[in-house]
Amino acid sequence: MTQSIRIAPSILSADFTRLGEQLRDAEAAGADLIHIDVMDGRFVPNITMGALVVEAARRVTTVPLDVHLMIFEPERHLDAFARAGAHRISVHWEACPNLHRTLQTIQELGCGPGVAINPHIPASFLSEVLHLVDVVLVMTVNPGFGGQAFLPETLPKLRQLRAMIAASGRDVDLEVDGGIHVGTAAQVAAAGASVLVAGSAIFNARHSVKQGIEALRQAVHESKSR
Ligand code: DX5
Ligand code: ZN
Repeated sequence: MTQSIRIAPSILSADFTRLGEQLRDAEAAGADLIHIDVMDGRFVPNITMGALVVEAARRVTTVPLDVHLMIFEPERHLDAFARAGAHRISVHWEACPNLHRTLQTIQELGCGPGVAINPHIPASFLSEVLHLVDVVLVMTVNPGFGGQAFLPETLPKLRQLRAMIAASGRDVDLEVDGGIHVGTAAQVAAAGASVLVAGSAIFNARHSVKQGIEALRQAVHESKSR
């Protein structure tokens, strides 16, 4: 079954010299969430942005901010991201020795807790935390950079997670991140994804932010009506 699909533009691929404008364009185009990739240069090879950027984004848009922490020891920074205006905070399963506590802390801070998994982590590793999360974020590339190729071996895992979520009876989002574009959106939607994160497919020089978002929605819609 295909869920109703929400689109989360990832500002990792945005033009940072005019971030405010790009965020306003995404909001006007009906973005459902704004995805913000925080990288520490240790958990992933790249260093990107921190709470300061979340706080700046909060001032230009009312779209919920979906913060993806690709950092070790995320528990040290949760308070800062919550105060900066994060709506949701996802931490990586691989980066959290006390994942259960970390997810509870996110909840206590008033944000939606999310758990993210890299491509090598099986669905079953989430069975003991599913009751604590609002979102499961499945990396469909290895995290660290925008513009990488989608890994199709993540599709069976999406189907398994969708079944686990259905069995839990809870309303948990299944979010996919990495390599999502008009050629892959329909497959992940059919496998049970409810939130599509897309960076390079939305923010690029070929078309407007609005065209990028609409093309993704269209790709999912067309496959549904087939
Ligand atoms: C990758 C990040 C993604 C990234 C996706 O490590 O977590 O959110 O922005 O970029 P695209 O959509 O270009 O694959
Ligand atoms: Zn991300």
